Amino acid sequence: MVGPLVQSALDPHSPQGERLRDLIWIFTAVCGVVWLAVMIALAIAVWRRRASAAPEPSALERAAELRLTIIVGALVGMTAVTVLALTGLSYATQKRVLGRPLAAGMALLVTGHQWWWEVEYKDDEPARTFTTANEIHVPVGVPVTIRLRADDVIHSFWVPSLMGKEDLIPGRENSIRFTAARAGIYRGQCAEFCGAQHAHMALLVVAQEKPDFDAWRDGQIRSADDPNEPERQKGLAAFLAKPCVMCHAVRGTSAAARVGPDLTHVGSRMTLAAGTLPLSRGTLAAWLADPQGVKPGSQMPFVQLDPDELNAISAYLEGLK
Ligand code: CUA
Repeated sequence: MVGPLVQSALDPHSPQGERLRDLIWIFTAVCGVVWLAVMIALAIAVWRRRASAAPEPSALERAAELRLTIIVGALVGMTAVTVLALTGLSYATQKRVLGRPLAAGMALLVTGHQWWWEVEYKDDEPARTFTTANEIHVPVGVPVTIRLRADDVIHSFWVPSLMGKEDLIPGRENSIRFTAARAGIYRGQCAEFCGAQHAHMALLVVAQEKPDFDAWRDGQIRSADDPNEPERQKGLAAFLAKPCVMCHAVRGTSAAARVGPDLTHVGSRMTLAAGTLPLSRGTLAAWLADPQGVKPGSQMPFVQLDPDELNAISAYLEGLK
């Protein structure tokens, strides 16, 4: 596992993230100053009211009334200017973060499912197109456009250190852009309540230097290797004989369903069940033995396996690097 990853919009690692962080601080500072001014004015008003007895309504002076009108008018004006300035600033940031289409760079397609992320790396060459899940690798310094779709309900894609939120809406395509400024692993989280396991709909963005990214991509493009060890061979046979193949794909085998995550290189990922568990042979076995205990309501059904099959399938999947 990759340790407790901090996800914070105040710790940006992309130009888009930096813009949003600046916006957050400007809003916080301006609103803080306004709040402080209002509190001070309130305290003065309360104190002065105590000090002098209330005047008779009929005793109001014209001069005092005029002064009050000017003060209230000025404050209303200042409020309007502040709100308009913040709105303008917000629009300007949004335009800079989202508005400029990227000439060159990399494009991905992410589809939100209850409760996991399908990630497709499209390539002009069909043989270099591949699908993975819950873990997005990107090269450092390359602008990335992610097209966002949803399969069932509305989800929201959010990796706080890299970009703002963008909804994934069934029947429509949105997109979000970012450029990772430095290598690192950034946690992301579905940010729109989407059902029982909304909280367990996490993802990781792994930003890598170009050579590392290319090596990763070449590995992902490959079909799964045929297992050599007897236990893993038994695992493959059991995997193909069980209902696993109704939902999952392992390229290079007859398993080609696309209901659940593509498992071709599941052993290379850091987490299991969309960030719910760190990935290891032990957690794979735990997940297979009791998916509804690990992630109640998940679409992953309980499949009856004897202990040998459970061990063998876990070994097979863990070896899919
Ligand atoms: Cu998907 Cu919340």
